[in-house]
Amino acid sequence: MILKQFELTGKKALVTGGSYGLGKAFAEALLEAGAEVGIVDISNELPAAVKALKKSGLVTGIKADLLKRPERKRAFQKFLKTFGTIDILVNNAGITRRNRAEEFALEDWDQVIELNLTAVFDFCSMAGKVMLKKGSGKIINIASLLSFFGGLKVPAYTASKGGVAQLTKALSNEWASRGVNVNALAPGYMATPLNTALLKDKARSCQILERIPAGRWGKPEDLKGALVFLASPASDYMHGAVLVVDGGYLGR
Ligand SMILES: NC(=O)c1ccc[n+]([C@@H]2O[C@H](COP(=O)([O-])OP(=O)(O)OC[C@H]3O[C@@H](n4cnc5c(N)ncnc54)[C@H](O)[C@@H]3O)[C@@H](O)[C@H]2O)c1
Repeated sequence: MILKQFELTGKKALVTGGSYGLGKAFAEALLEAGAEVGIVDISNELPAAVKALKKSGLVTGIKADLLKRPERKRAFQKFLKTFGTIDILVNNAGITRRNRAEEFALEDWDQVIELNLTAVFDFCSMAGKVMLKKGSGKIINIASLLSFFGGLKVPAYTASKGGVAQLTKALSNEWASRGVNVNALAPGYMATPLNTALLKDKARSCQILERIPAGRWGKPEDLKGALVFLASPASDYMHGAVLVVDGGYLGR
């Protein structure tokens, strides 16, 4: 009986940034649980990802640069036109820029904040309007361990992810009583293209590994269960939470 609560059959889900990395695994998890998925992404790898994911269910790609505000609106409208409604939103697309804080360019700051925080708010707002009208919906914002601590050489990323955790709480305060769950998922250190520079920094990546009780970096598949939980009726009483899946890093 409890397993039924994790089913997403027929639910319409929008995943931002699902061409590769964590977002692709999120899309796959939602498809495997029965949802129909629209992936909004800028990458040229989007068609290949959609083709590969088709074996898991009904999936569509919508190409858009989410740094551009009109493109966000256009992509969301296209999703609604294709799927008719939205039940699940996964705000996953994100970037990082690495530099010492005193040399960090304002242009880099603007881009990271625009995609990682402003676009997240924009999509929450667009999806929230539809979900509130029908009295149900699940929003999952992808936070980070840097929602909790400051990190090194990533001031904009840290500020954006701190913002994502706080925004999640702010929205859940307004929307919980109206049937919409807003939660965040905070992955630990995951081996994806986002961390290419960090993985190349042998000293720093060893330091990180030493602090992970699970004894390895995370893989995108490690997050699939938590994502489906947050997208499903099993988490109906969960609001404003930041669910950490990090191999134990934060507890160390
Ligand atoms: N990898 C990690 O260790 C880790 C840890 C914690 C949180 N996160 C967060 O998880 C999310 C996904 O990270 P990832 O590691 O899979 O990153 P990634 O770089 O591997 O993938 C990012 C995805 O976002 C898309 N994207 C980038 N810029 C875009 C834009 N302007 N418009 C549309 N799509 C765009 C890319 O095409 C790609 O599909 C991000 O929000 C990231 O901050 C990652």
